[in-house]
Amino acid sequence: MNHPLRLLTMLALACTSACVACGTDEPLEPGREYVKDMIDSVPYDSFSPNPVLRDHKTLQPPAPGTLALGVEPFDYAATPEDALRAGRELTNPLTSTPESIARGDRVFHTVCYVCHGDRGAGDGPVIPRFPRPPSLTAAHAKGLPDGQLFHIITRGQGLMPSHAAQVRPDDRWRVIHYLRSLQAGAGGSP
Ligand code: HEC
Repeated sequence: MNHPLRLLTMLALACTSACVACGTDEPLEPGREYVKDMIDSVPYDSFSPNPVLRDHKTLQPPAPGTLALGVEPFDYAATPEDALRAGRELTNPLTSTPESIARGDRVFHTVCYVCHGDRGAGDGPVIPRFPRPPSLTAAHAKGLPDGQLFHIITRGQGLMPSHAAQVRPDDRWRVIHYLRSLQAGAGGSP
């Protein structure tokens, strides 16, 4: 290695170690900020006070009557009356196909199975530590209209909590296709 090259290499090494050693020996020291804008946010943060807006809040509620993109309105309260009303007013918008039943099967076995069991008999792995649900192939469940089943999944019923957060609306209708196929296959069981 000739002389100027050696000098350059040493300089480069010195620079690198200077950069790497930005912090101090004190482990509690955060070190030096060298891309300041990446550390200190320039825009107002969601929960920071805001001098520009009238209520001084950065995060604003949506305007009344607006819906977030992708959110489907479901104008039914978590009451038995609205469950019955959903049963009268709503019909399954999806056609029952082997694919939709297969998807419903998958969702059922991911979300509902723990309580309702493999074939909907109410014998999932958490039973009897959790109160036993009625059989989904019994005459009562068979007689529930699709809209009411959709309401039960969306709003919950009695001891069963809402599953709106776990199952998106189109998948709820597919689970209903699956339940119907289970009920048909289960024939006249209890
Ligand atoms: C944490 C346990 C649990 C999970 C998970 C659960 N359920 Fe339930 N389910 C119950 C219980 C308990 C009942 C009885 C509720 C009541 O009326 O008190 C019930 C009731 C029902 C009923 C009404 C049956 C009838 O004859 O009245 C349907 C339909 C139903 N569940 C479907 C589902 C579906 C579909 C899923 C999955 C998306 C699901 N459940 C997930 C516990 C659960």
